Amino acid sequence: MLKKALEGVLSEKESDELISAFDQIGDIIIVRIPDSLLAKKKVIGKTLLENVKTANSVFCQSSPVEGDFRTRDLEIIAGQDKTETEYKEFGCRFIVDVQKAFFSPRLSNERNRIAEQILDGQTVINMFGGIGMFSIIAAKNKKCIVYNIDINPDAVELCEKNIKLNKLSGKVFSIQGDAAQIIKEKLENKGDRVLMLLPERSDEFLDSAVAATKNNGIIHYYSHIHADKKSEATKLSENHFMDISPVVSKVLNSKIVRAVGPRYYQTVVDVKITK
Ligand SMILES: C[S@@+](CC[C@H](N)C(=O)[O-])C[C@H]1O[C@@H](n2cnc3c(N)ncnc32)[C@H](O)[C@@H]1O
Repeated sequence: MLKKALEGVLSEKESDELISAFDQIGDIIIVRIPDSLLAKKKVIGKTLLENVKTANSVFCQSSPVEGDFRTRDLEIIAGQDKTETEYKEFGCRFIVDVQKAFFSPRLSNERNRIAEQILDGQTVINMFGGIGMFSIIAAKNKKCIVYNIDINPDAVELCEKNIKLNKLSGKVFSIQGDAAQIIKEKLENKGDRVLMLLPERSDEFLDSAVAATKNNGIIHYYSHIHADKKSEATKLSENHFMDISPVVSKVLNSKIVRAVGPRYYQTVVDVKITK
């Protein structure tokens, strides 16, 4: 439908490229427009807004996801200039601010995969928890306690709102600060599972993740890896983890979470550690 709507505006190749770079989050559309099409951004925005009936705003992403807070610059190209919206996933409701804090709808399968692995009674430490997506979906589905740490005060505030919205006070705890510092102060040896969703800096925080994990607990270690062949990406990440792991580790599972560039993948390795 969208392709049809863009027919008069873009060539077939251009619209294919644009549609794969398109996310809808609640009533907000975010689109990455290649430089060659930037001159047409207003008409692209208008066309998207007219054809996606549930959208009220269209933003063009004008920077990569970057900085300590993993946020991006957005430019309004059609509709209302507001960056906060409500998003629903797996029976949970989230207030999201697409400008102030990291959010990706493309991680939804991974959020579900993690929630399914958690056992009732477990304690989960989400070191880079953002607005609480993984934590809230986990706690809604399993009888677990989750510590959601984030350094971005806006993400922490949104996480607190999302905890209330999903009636999870006392099950999910939103903590502001540097994950390494918070773990050192109060979460050593507390986690049955520790999530490390800051793939660019996982190695730097691995000692803290190990410190946070109980003996025989599990670390979900995310990383970005170059692989000439897609089929080699998971083995490369497993090998990398085993090379740097400071403790005895057993890989339980590994998978590609998503492609993040040409021959570049975000992967996860689930590891049981013994200390
Ligand atoms: C890739 S995002 C993942 C957020 C969340 N897990 C999600 O999937 O929605 C990484 C998050 O780590 C946070 N962050 C970066 N450095 C941190 C640190 N030293 N301690 C705690 N959080 C940090 C950022 O603010 C950002 O929200």
